[in-house]
Amino acid sequence: MNAEKIRKDFPILSKGVIYLDNACQTLRPVQVIDKINEYYNDYPVCGGRSYHKLSKRVDEEVTNARRIIQKFFNAKKVQEIIFTRNTTEGINLIANSLSLQEGDIVLISDKEHNSNLIPWQILNSKGIKHEIFEFGNIEDFKSKLNSSVKLVSTVQTSNLDGTSQPVEEMIKLAHANGSLVLLDGAQSAPHKPVDVQKLDVDFFSCSGHKMTGPSGTGILYGKYSLLEKLKPFLVGGDTVEETTYEKCKFLPPPEKFEAGLQNYAGIMGLGEAVKYLSKIGMKNIIAHEIELNKRITEKLGNHEKIEIIGGLNAEERGGIFSFNIKNMDPHEVAIILDNSANIAVRSGAHCCHSWFNKHNLKGSVRASLYCYNTEEDVDKFVEEIEKVLLLC
Ligand SMILES: Cc1ncc(COP(=O)(O)O)c(C=O)c1O
Repeated sequence: MNAEKIRKDFPILSKGVIYLDNACQTLRPVQVIDKINEYYNDYPVCGGRSYHKLSKRVDEEVTNARRIIQKFFNAKKVQEIIFTRNTTEGINLIANSLSLQEGDIVLISDKEHNSNLIPWQILNSKGIKHEIFEFGNIEDFKSKLNSSVKLVSTVQTSNLDGTSQPVEEMIKLAHANGSLVLLDGAQSAPHKPVDVQKLDVDFFSCSGHKMTGPSGTGILYGKYSLLEKLKPFLVGGDTVEETTYEKCKFLPPPEKFEAGLQNYAGIMGLGEAVKYLSKIGMKNIIAHEIELNKRITEKLGNHEKIEIIGGLNAEERGGIFSFNIKNMDPHEVAIILDNSANIAVRSGAHCCHSWFNKHNLKGSVRASLYCYNTEEDVDKFVEEIEKVLLLC
């Protein structure tokens, strides 16, 4: 994998920024930007409703994007790919559509993003409980499985520190218990191969904007037999075959879940993004990130004033270096990096307030890597952090 060559595809990187906030949103290559422009320049119309040529082209392009994504995740059917706005929407769709009943339990880890915590908290008012196991702790996970656990909804790779759970084993255990599994793939899909059939996962939600796709795009995968049974979350135009004043007949998946006029440019851009990543190769992306993360960790990991979240082993943290400097506010560190060297990182609780509260921490500074980052980027980051360390 040639990061220097890849960088040339990302227009903003020629403007001098060192972008290490990839777990929030990645940058977009020119191929994705061109695809979005193509839609607005050449066929900027509605799909699915009209019979003119422009509309038919939109339908073709949307189907093509869905096929590219089906292949990327190795889904059995193209109809198993639902377009959403983001990971959050996919999780909310399942929370609202699964027809959970009073007394049912949803099992989540103690390291979930708010997007995979709040949808379950909201269901508490209907008598549906959420219980917590320790992230990555299989024994604890097993001990929490019981006949009331109807769904395990958990993150594959943590946005807080980059560590991953043994989800294949967890899915087997959950299924043996009769529970369905929804994976939050926001931080796994952009960085490593995900094969939904091999995992045998029931539902998988991720965000396009974290994988070189346009902002406000997402993907929800679901096994077709399960999607068929789910009631739709948002309803309205394009979700139905027929209506009378009294009732309606819903279309099959995925249409019944894609209500109203869609983000066509976003969907097409997302298809292009996934094509772009497939060409680079997901195994190459994660290997590259780990190499860079090792380089940072070797230089900063043992410093007495630095505390890494997720441990010293960079291989376990993939592309994320999340840390605190003793006696310094994480936001202050992020602002210094931005002002002194145009280095963009994230600081704060990364929407995982519950975990930081449990550990009595205010937050962390998070540098997150991607395929276009280079040794020069991480060396500059280290150099600037070393200067900050001299200040405190
Ligand atoms: C692990 C994880 N889950 C869920 C989300 C929510 O993603 P989005 O805001 O794209 O819905 C994020 C975003 O950072 C995330 O990292």
